[in-house]
Amino acid sequence: MSKERRNRDWYGKLDRDGFIHRSWMKNQGFPDHVFDGRPIIGICNTWSELTPCNSGLRELAEGVKRGVWEAGGFPVEFPVMSLGETQMKPTAMLFRNLLAMDVEESIRAYGMDGVVLLGGCDKTTPGQLMGAASVDLPTIVVSSGPMLNGKWQGADIGSGTDVWKFSEAVRAGDMSLQDFLAAESGMSRSKGVCMTMGTASTMASLVEAMGLSLPMNAALPAVDARRMALAHLTGNRIVDMVREDLKLSDVLTRASFENAILVNAAVGGSTNAVVHLLALAGRVGVDLRLEDFELGCEIPLLVNCMPSGKYLMEDFCYAGGVPVVLSELAPQLRKARTVMGADISEYVEGAKCWNRNVIRAIDNPLKPAAGLRVLRGNLAPDGAIIKPSAASDQLLEHEAEAFVFDNIEDMKANIDRDDLPVTPDTILVLKGCGPKGYPGMPEVGNMPIPARLVREGVRDMVRLSDARMSGTAFGTVVLHIAPEAQAGGPLALVKTGDRIRLSAAKGQLELLVSPDELARRRETFQPDEPHYTRGYAKLYTDHVLQADRGADLDFLVGKDTRPVTRESH
Ligand code: FES
Repeated sequence: MSKERRNRDWYGKLDRDGFIHRSWMKNQGFPDHVFDGRPIIGICNTWSELTPCNSGLRELAEGVKRGVWEAGGFPVEFPVMSLGETQMKPTAMLFRNLLAMDVEESIRAYGMDGVVLLGGCDKTTPGQLMGAASVDLPTIVVSSGPMLNGKWQGADIGSGTDVWKFSEAVRAGDMSLQDFLAAESGMSRSKGVCMTMGTASTMASLVEAMGLSLPMNAALPAVDARRMALAHLTGNRIVDMVREDLKLSDVLTRASFENAILVNAAVGGSTNAVVHLLALAGRVGVDLRLEDFELGCEIPLLVNCMPSGKYLMEDFCYAGGVPVVLSELAPQLRKARTVMGADISEYVEGAKCWNRNVIRAIDNPLKPAAGLRVLRGNLAPDGAIIKPSAASDQLLEHEAEAFVFDNIEDMKANIDRDDLPVTPDTILVLKGCGPKGYPGMPEVGNMPIPARLVREGVRDMVRLSDARMSGTAFGTVVLHIAPEAQAGGPLALVKTGDRIRLSAAKGQLELLVSPDELARRRETFQPDEPHYTRGYAKLYTDHVLQADRGADLDFLVGKDTRPVTRESH
């Protein structure tokens, strides 16, 4: 039984308000009959030339529109803020919550009955979902899709992951600057998101695993004609979702979040998924905690894609994509409804793996346990995380002296000093890069290895911070330490020379300094002056929650599904 549609409130009235709503829309050439009460589908588009990863979304919007018209709906495309991960300063994450506000208020304020979210680049997917979740209309996702595999000097190269490797090779003197610059053009050969299993492809995979998109949404390359067909079919489906009143909260259940955690482990997904899933859960009232990510701990690594493996998203697509991963995990998958209306097991039907080098069988994994580890201890009372699949096994149990950088400027100014008093065993600590401190919690947690050690052949060290790390990055990197230094967390009290113990196996992160000494240090602790005193950045700094709460703004948690009843005309 269909719920009363919102569009009748905008376009169904035979009074002055109805005249105004319809008449102005007619300036685009829409005839009378499209205002007959048919489902109005908002196409929420993050297309932008400043977000190269989303630059194909204009074409995909046309595909969605075809599908909506065909199914008897009325499609209306609207823009929202776009977040270009590689282009925005200080960090796109600062603006994820602003995008979420933009999406939420746009959906609520206009007379649509269902929404198609067009996103892709890292923060656009969670930002759009968070906003949409707080309104809770029928909602479905179409992602940008990954770029074609990078190609250079006869080999495949992966966005992000190979940039980190190349820049370290230049610093070590193993790669010429000329070659480094020449690789740029080969890396990004088509529209689409990073073609490694970075944050964008991770979030698209989780969207699919949570049943928020049609099957194969994550892996089909951006320029594959089948993605346009998927957009068309998505347009068909959202119209029926409105008719069935299948809302976002019907799909975003605890079970679907648990499936996302399982799949994130199996695909070797980004650490950023943690903050995004926590924030999204907060919007729909699912009590998801950092500890819940331990569900993935024993899940094996099945997908052999960078940064945890060697292949790229195009290979993942041709091997069978997310449906194959879901079929391998089938015995552990939770029952969860999808945008198709039935259980997630429907996505597995007919799934077949075409390349076992790229997607391993559950009994022949790349690594036996790939999930993120949640760490706690006196250095991270509210938690921290590490991604063992991207770390060096021999460093996952490690105790050594710390070398501390007080902020990003300190780190950049000093990391390559030849007289930096560090050894390969030293634990590098970076403060001031959490949600409030930077602000925006940038992807700087995988700070570079000191140049002198790089020249000696060192490629990994234990690094700790309150920052995040790019989903394309790798290393033995402890991230998201909460509370952050700027909020007065124990990280603020660490000094160079302190000993720190990391045990990924036990989930421990301990600062080996006596409580009395820490209490003395706390007496003199002063947070830094805020970097911003006005505008959105001030609002963000004043209200952002810590990483263990998903770094959402405190006043955005939850939803408001009340109808808009006030008229302004
Ligand atoms: Fe946009 Fe990687 S920078 S997806």
